[in-house]
Amino acid sequence: MGIESSAHTFGAGIVDRGKVLANEKSMFPIGTNGMIPGKVAEFHSSNALKVVKAALDRAGTKLSEIEGISYTSGPGLGPCLQIGQLISKTLAKTLSISIAPVNHCVAHIEITRHFAKMRDPLVLYVSGGNSQILKLSEEPFRHYSVLGETLDIGVGNMLDNLARRLGLNPAWGSSVAKAAERGKYINMPYTVKGMDFSFTGILTFAEKMAGKEMPEDICFSVQENAFAMLCEATERAMFLTDSAEICVSGGVAQSRRLKEMLAQISREHGARIGYVSDELNADNGAMVALVGEKMLESGFKARLSDCVIDQKYRTDEAMVY
Ligand code: FE2
Repeated sequence: MGIESSAHTFGAGIVDRGKVLANEKSMFPIGTNGMIPGKVAEFHSSNALKVVKAALDRAGTKLSEIEGISYTSGPGLGPCLQIGQLISKTLAKTLSISIAPVNHCVAHIEITRHFAKMRDPLVLYVSGGNSQILKLSEEPFRHYSVLGETLDIGVGNMLDNLARRLGLNPAWGSSVAKAAERGKYINMPYTVKGMDFSFTGILTFAEKMAGKEMPEDICFSVQENAFAMLCEATERAMFLTDSAEICVSGGVAQSRRLKEMLAQISREHGARIGYVSDELNADNGAMVALVGEKMLESGFKARLSDCVIDQKYRTDEAMVY
């Protein structure tokens, strides 16, 4: 069983030998105010047991049949991570089963790589908290090495902020995408430095445009530039690493417009783009369970006292099993 609670979603997933048996969740209602960590954690603690039970029911299994437990240990919001950590440690102790702390970003990437059946792809990881271009590296341990990344905030965080500033409801990137469908292009900042990119400049510019330009035009233009920046850096990394496969993971991988732009790269360079369903791209427990299962099968062992949380746990600090 895998428990996800790094941000707005509390998820419990159950996998068996790489097959998802259950993937249940409850999501904090974001409204127009965004996330206040204490409030989200409160929401998770009152929904957690319900979600765990729903996952067991969906999988048709009993708690006593769970063989190992994993939880998101970071990155994420401290109070939210603590809820998943506490529940997982309690279950591990009560059931006397193994426990594995999982890096949230690696979980996003690994579930896509697993279901897209990719061995060593170039990875474009795009989410609220982060945006990175990565490739597996064996030295000094097997991990995702960062080729390029955001120099400030994640692309999803930028889109959520914009939604909030424009008063869109819910204040998500998906509301920006919806508004963008009716928009036309206005000039916006575009910042790519090698394989790194930056999103605060475009956000500040767009925020200043609020009230002066139509919201749909702002949304359209921000999306076009932000995704083009990601695609330019990805294309550069693809040539540098001689990769013919791109694994696209994370919440923002659900974006239809980003997929269209990546499809163009695929057509021009014959690259294969790997995705999973929106359900598995969003934050979920199954991705944590999948990585946990791989870790425990590889003989990973942790004492309960080693099962900590790390709000700033970087993708390249986590061992890949
Ligand atoms: Fe995520």
